[in-house]
Amino acid sequence: MILTDKNVAPFIKWAGGKRQLLPYIQELMPKTYDNYYEPFIGGGAVLFHLMPQKEVIINDINKALINVYRQIKYHPNELMQYLTKIDADIPLEHKAYYYEQREQFNDKMMKDEYDLELAALFIYLNKHCFNGLYRVNSKGLFNVPFNNSNVKSFNAENILAVSHFLQKVTILEGDFEHACQNAKKGDFIFLDSPYAPLNDTSFEAYTKEGFDIPSHKRLAKLFGELSSRGCYCMLTNHNTEFINDLYQDYHKKVITVRRYINSDAKNRKGEEIIITNY
Ligand SMILES: C[S@@+](CC[C@H](N)C(=O)[O-])C[C@H]1O[C@@H](n2cnc3c(N)ncnc32)[C@H](O)[C@@H]1O
Repeated sequence: MILTDKNVAPFIKWAGGKRQLLPYIQELMPKTYDNYYEPFIGGGAVLFHLMPQKEVIINDINKALINVYRQIKYHPNELMQYLTKIDADIPLEHKAYYYEQREQFNDKMMKDEYDLELAALFIYLNKHCFNGLYRVNSKGLFNVPFNNSNVKSFNAENILAVSHFLQKVTILEGDFEHACQNAKKGDFIFLDSPYAPLNDTSFEAYTKEGFDIPSHKRLAKLFGELSSRGCYCMLTNHNTEFINDLYQDYHKKVITVRRYINSDAKNRKGEEIIITNY
């Protein structure tokens, strides 16, 4: 099989994935740009859709997630061997097995073992946990319950295509501000941070650090700095008053979307906003 950069799909489900917004993001992005930065990469739905041609820099604060990107980049075949074994060992009564894998994952997290096995466990848990959520407790340990889904953890062709594409991608791990420090005039920065709260029960605990109101203000400040540097910036979030206030000086497009994470049926439709500085 000849591998190309076409037809690459996200290899995990991720909360806040931007699939519904992709046509609008595509329409509103700059027609030409230099390097592509995505400091909140998550499941990479936007990156794998856009497939930027020049240099690409991705980042996330979730260390276990970034370990998966790195293992796919450097060791796709070994990773798939681990995954094949995990999937092959699934018994008919899957539930107890899921919780054993989750415990194994958390043991490794506590020992800071960011390796191939951890990456394989991450992908397996993502595919078999409730809604593909990544939620952790106050110690940073993964605590999402089992979802009785009868799916394979991976698609070999896709993992190889992702690995091929990632060869030209710089993969960083840490805070968004640091990830953007080398961005220069003409680069395109796509910013999809955790959402600003809609209400008190909004889902926003992606990592034990969370992403609070001061983080949103810090992001708005960075948006301003990148704008003065001459970068093309695009940011997405809920269409709330708080976000509109933070970005009053920029262009905005509001889009109605279906929401999946909110358990309150009334809140399953919502509005997202796309903000650009160009
Ligand atoms: C809305 S998700 C991104 C979703 C992504 N666009 C997708 O399509 O899957 C936000 C991401 O920001 C990450 N994050 C949270 N706080 C961060 C920080 N301070 N710096 C960098 N990344 C952060 C989370 O781990 C999460 O993966």
